[in-house]
Amino acid sequence: MRIAVIGTGYVGLVTGVCFAEKGNQVICVDIDQAKLARLRKGECPIYEPDLDTLLEKNIAAGRLHFTDQLAEAVAASTLIFLALPTPPGGDGAADLSFVLGVSKEIGKILNQLDNPEMKVIVDKSTVPVGTADKVRALIAAETQAPFAVISNPEFLREGFAVEDFMKPDRVVVGTDSAQARKLMYDLYAPYCQNPQGQILFMDERSAEMTKYAANSYLAMRISFMNEIANLCEKLDANVDAVKVGIGSDTRIGSKFLNAGIGYGGSCFPKDVQALAQTAQEQGYDFKILKSVMQVNAAQRLFFVEKIKSYFQNQLAGKTIAVWGLAFKPNTDDIREAPALDILKALLEMGVKVRTHDPEAMPAIERIFGKSIVFCQDPYQALENADALAILTEWKVFQEADLNRMASLLKAKVIFDGRNIYDLAQMQAQDWHYESMGRQKVVPLLRPQA
Ligand SMILES: NC(=O)c1ccc[n+]([C@@H]2O[C@H](COP(=O)([O-])OP(=O)(O)OC[C@H]3O[C@@H](n4cnc5c(N)ncnc54)[C@H](O)[C@@H]3O)[C@@H](O)[C@H]2O)c1
Repeated sequence: MRIAVIGTGYVGLVTGVCFAEKGNQVICVDIDQAKLARLRKGECPIYEPDLDTLLEKNIAAGRLHFTDQLAEAVAASTLIFLALPTPPGGDGAADLSFVLGVSKEIGKILNQLDNPEMKVIVDKSTVPVGTADKVRALIAAETQAPFAVISNPEFLREGFAVEDFMKPDRVVVGTDSAQARKLMYDLYAPYCQNPQGQILFMDERSAEMTKYAANSYLAMRISFMNEIANLCEKLDANVDAVKVGIGSDTRIGSKFLNAGIGYGGSCFPKDVQALAQTAQEQGYDFKILKSVMQVNAAQRLFFVEKIKSYFQNQLAGKTIAVWGLAFKPNTDDIREAPALDILKALLEMGVKVRTHDPEAMPAIERIFGKSIVFCQDPYQALENADALAILTEWKVFQEADLNRMASLLKAKVIFDGRNIYDLAQMQAQDWHYESMGRQKVVPLLRPQA
């Protein structure tokens, strides 16, 4: 199929590359000239496993092109995907200016085309319920040409973006157009083992709501487990055991039950906030969402309190090594990362921070500059530090050599915001080890078969 993807960020680039990988002809559009220049050379502007290889491969195969010319891409394509930013506006609602601005442009372009085929404009950005109607109205105001607007929210996880796109759990398509349904089915079927079961057709509004409901529900699980963890600390229970205990209930499932320093990233914070704002606009008091956000904000500070309390509020002049800056492993994305608030709090208290992250240091350096020491190696960050704080569960930290760590730190002190080490082992090796919701070792004993 001939596809245009407008916006070549995390979602747009992965979408374009993965559509090309199955043999489609794809043109990716962006306004960021520096990004386009890198992409044309086959350089991947973001860190995402396997994306660089597939990018190079599909450019070489002549299936993947990059341009700043929206009109050219729209004219050449049947399916036009919008993967534009929808950042939070001043009131927390999604800022639709990118999506609506480009939609109007598309309307004008469609109006200029001679004998146009039906174009399908597919919204992949996360947008409030009712946006497809707005996009349709804007385009219809510009042209009589045939087109359909459909909602196709994206569920990929950063860090697993290619894998998720190539093997989705499900594909949600909101449209009442039979022609658009057929195109979307044919496009996505090669990615699904069971296309009839996995490609879910519904109306646009329900599709738009599905995306917000999914992210808000996952964020709620995280905040819920963080509250359970905080209570476990007071009651001498262990959240790891509780996680296994509830996660093995098939009604609950074991994913998204990790206690820690809370969620971040470009999606959960803004999507929870946007859904809360949508509810408010409708005069509906969505109490759970408000709590989800409050708990998440408090959890970062709760972690800082642990460090403060250990050092009896005397943190000025202390050196803390910080491992992990990205909002989660396998990405260089620091948008809304807990590290941002935690670093700020540490620096405000006069702490000297030495840090390492496998991918996210350039992004953090752009914000914090020389106020932080960036180390090319995790062990280097530990040299002469009074303690280590772990903020992201990168594998390299999980597999680190505890003896070497002990030899580099001034004292064997770790604050683990992601529960990456075995509590019993840390206690046996005489570490002062504070994690989340795990005050004491609770052996999980299962009867022998
Ligand atoms: N990042 C994720 O994991 C994820 C997952 C699912 C859904 N989403 C949603 O997908 C959408 C895009 O998110 P993202 O993370 O890819 O954003 P991003 O900021 O990484 O990328 C957006 C891109 O759009 C480009 N752009 C801006 N204005 C443009 C214009 N007028 N014409 C062409 N390009 C333009 C920007 O230069 C940028 O490259 C958002 O609505 C987001 O909520 C994101």
